[in-house]
Amino acid sequence: MFSVLLSLVALAASPLASAQVASQAYEWQNVKIGGGGGFIPGIVFNPSEQGLAYARADIGGVYRLNSNNDTWTPLLDWVDNADWHLWGCDAVATDPINTNNVYLASGMYTNSFDPNNGAILISNDQGDTWTQSPLPFKVGGNMPGRGMGERLAVDPNDNSILFFGARSGNGLWKSTNSASTWTQVTSFPSVGTYAPDPSDPTGYESDLIGIAWVTFDSTSGTKGTATPRIFVGVANNPGQESIFVTENGGSTWTAVAGQNTSFIPHKGVLSPAESTLYVSYSNGAGPYDGTLGSVMKFNIATSTWTDITPVSGSNLYFGFGGLSVDLQVPGTVMVGALNSPDGQIFRSTDSGETWVDIWNWIEYPTLEKSYTYSDTLAPWLGPDSVDITLGFLQTGWMIEALVIDPFDSNHFLYGTGATIYGSHDLTNWDTEGTFLLESLADGVEETAVQSLLAPPSASGPILLSAVGDIEGFIHVSLTSPPAQEFMTPEWTTTADLDYAGNEPTNMVRIGADSGSALQQVAVSTNSGVDWNTDFGAGGKVAYSANADTVLWSSSTNGVLVSQFTNAFVAVPSLPSGSIIASDKRNDDLFYAASGNSFYLSTNIGKSFTAISTLGGSTAPVKIVVHPNVTGNYMLLSSLGLFHSTNNGTTFTAISGITEAWAIALGAPQTAGAYPSVFAAAEISGVVGYFRSDNEGTSWVQIDDVNHRFAAINSNPLTADLNVWGRVFIGTNGRGIFYGVPAGSTPPPVSASSTSKTSTISSTTSKTSTISSTASKTSTISISSTISSTSTITATTTSASSTSTSGLAGAFGQCGGTGWTGATACVSGFTCVVQNPFFSQCVQS
Ligand SMILES: *[C@@H]1O[C@H](CO)[C@@H](O)[C@H](O)[C@H]1NC(C)=O
Ligand SMILES: *[C@@H]1O[C@H](CO)[C@@H](O)[C@H](O)[C@H]1NC(C)=O
Ligand SMILES: *[C@@H]1O[C@H](CO)[C@@H](O)[C@H](O)[C@H]1NC(C)=O
Ligand SMILES: *[C@@H]1O[C@H](CO)[C@@H](O)[C@H](O)[C@H]1NC(C)=O
Repeated sequence: MFSVLLSLVALAASPLASAQVASQAYEWQNVKIGGGGGFIPGIVFNPSEQGLAYARADIGGVYRLNSNNDTWTPLLDWVDNADWHLWGCDAVATDPINTNNVYLASGMYTNSFDPNNGAILISNDQGDTWTQSPLPFKVGGNMPGRGMGERLAVDPNDNSILFFGARSGNGLWKSTNSASTWTQVTSFPSVGTYAPDPSDPTGYESDLIGIAWVTFDSTSGTKGTATPRIFVGVANNPGQESIFVTENGGSTWTAVAGQNTSFIPHKGVLSPAESTLYVSYSNGAGPYDGTLGSVMKFNIATSTWTDITPVSGSNLYFGFGGLSVDLQVPGTVMVGALNSPDGQIFRSTDSGETWVDIWNWIEYPTLEKSYTYSDTLAPWLGPDSVDITLGFLQTGWMIEALVIDPFDSNHFLYGTGATIYGSHDLTNWDTEGTFLLESLADGVEETAVQSLLAPPSASGPILLSAVGDIEGFIHVSLTSPPAQEFMTPEWTTTADLDYAGNEPTNMVRIGADSGSALQQVAVSTNSGVDWNTDFGAGGKVAYSANADTVLWSSSTNGVLVSQFTNAFVAVPSLPSGSIIASDKRNDDLFYAASGNSFYLSTNIGKSFTAISTLGGSTAPVKIVVHPNVTGNYMLLSSLGLFHSTNNGTTFTAISGITEAWAIALGAPQTAGAYPSVFAAAEISGVVGYFRSDNEGTSWVQIDDVNHRFAAINSNPLTADLNVWGRVFIGTNGRGIFYGVPAGSTPPPVSASSTSKTSTISSTTSKTSTISSTASKTSTISISSTISSTSTITATTTSASSTSTSGLAGAFGQCGGTGWTGATACVSGFTCVVQNPFFSQCVQS
């Protein structure tokens, strides 16, 4: 038992501190990508209030469904830098008795990536406001097994009682006062023995998954008193019992007799009318793995198990994840293949005796599908066709969240690695053979943003984005979704972007190709519609003013330069890892900084000379160049913000900034004035987002209690060069925001034609997300924010689940996009490609 302090979490900087910096009200909205853009591990419907549902994202918070119009409302945008880990959510519980109550198990990582203990977040108004009840251990919203669940549940007969299944060997916990305080249930016999790779030195794959789900048998009790029968599923190693039951509200527990111990139970779902517990099993914890699994049902009245696995033999090459029963029509059950990798969903209307699948090969390559497909709300998710790169049928994968609306048999939703899909005519599957499968993630924005570019031309796109996993977009509108991701080349993750100052429709981007760790560079002459590609290795990029020369500070091959798209050659006079920038007016000039030296090139990047020292600065962060005036820029270093107007010969310190993580220049408030300066910084003791209209002499804070954007050191910042005051903030898991001063007139939508139809692949690997978030764990030091790209590369390597023997462990990852760990498996296991993002060690 431990006591907790309930605190109002939506309260940010102390009034004293904020009084020292003026603030200006801003209106904040997401730049609409639409369709989510990342993994949805959990979706939970309230069984008592029609239309009430929540979806959780692994690193980007939680959303509430607006069932009237199929949109989602984000609930955790108040999370600030200090509490960044609360954007990780490992479980949602919605109260069946008082439907205004909702609880979250919040925290990002249980290993060293995250120093913070977790918390149960409590809301009594369906997520509009929150308090938090701290836990004495970590919670892992972005850990392996995050799609199992839910591991947090409210007693349907006495809603003051909640159970929470912890990770890391911390066991089962109980609250009897609506989540205010928690006590460990010491009588519970298992804390879980399974870890995906027990020898992972980072602790990411070696931490115990723990208790996976808690399911009350509502029918065993009476309203007002604690429910006696509760089932709990645990991630245990094969051969060990993993489902436990109590008949006395948790005083004593037994393993459910007759259970099969081959696999890990991902979901335990009660069908009250049938007095049956349905269970989906997989041989991995997910979300990327699973090569075998089963579906079982347990008849509670007769204590008998029945194997109802929908497929067998060579057709069974996956585990099972998402599982749901239709509460309106007992006997109707749906289950998802966790990673098929063409998302496979099975439906039964006879309690699992027989199943139909959402697609099958009549005879290769002729496909029979039970659905027609609509991606109207997020066209970039792709047309209804087989994508030859990833083999997608648009049904997605990583299907751990699959739920039938308890009030509407025609409505179901499921989460994938990239979006939320669902339908409003599901029962047509039974009656007519097909139903309409739709992208239904409107309002969910969960991309991890790597870099942003607002080009200066008022007639071109407003913004270009580089994002993790789904590469990036050209945004011609901020309020409607882009038609497609960056095309030809299609990459998994785009790392950085730049434009040429005098030829601003000329762009350069760097990124990592799908299916390969190799990073690439591409240039475009038409604002990103078409691209020419070259190869190299990741980092940061700068384009010369006249678009003839690309300077590339790569993460593995030092600094490289290419003129007229000739092969890249080394720039020996610059240290590896230098930060770089191009002058936006003078084609001859490039700038660079490394250590305490500032470098200038006057020959289009061929060679650089150290022309000044940056005092005691050891870590330059970013150079942001004036779009109109040559030789004039802002330099951010570990000593703060500096201004040069003479190519870097001398610098003027801008006082008042204690620490800064990103800066951007935008349109000036009055024509001809110096550009407005935006900073993600600490000023007068306040960590936040600021704007200055007088070259940094004074600042106004522009973020507010409802918009804090979580971890400041991973958020790219760019400002609009045409619209004064408009700024773009990229987040690590909540997409891109734009802000404008409250009350200002929105500018007209820019007209630029970029639509181009061709097959687009949606991608789902979270590898880069995991590691980019990992970089946050270091104390906020300037160096960890210099370049998210190089940080990612470094961290990915160390995050690999390579055992100390140099071999990947049992059921561990052994390949896939961006994978830099071991590709051979420990004895008795063989590395098998599961999908482009994941190869797994399976029993040979
Ligand atoms: C959808 O409905 C919600 C709740 O009624 C409302 O707040 C939101 O503005 C609506 N969104 C759209 C796009 O109509
Ligand atoms: C347990 O499940 C596995 C996999 O479905 C199956 O091969 C095995 O026969 C089952 N064991 C028992 C005792 O039913
Ligand atoms: C910057 O360097 C260029 C090239 O040497 C030179 O032409 C220009 O005058 C310099 N600008 C300033 C302000 O020193
Ligand atoms: C750059 O110059 C153009 C043309 O004079 C002007 O409209 C724009 O505001 C300037 N941009 C900045 C950021 O000062």
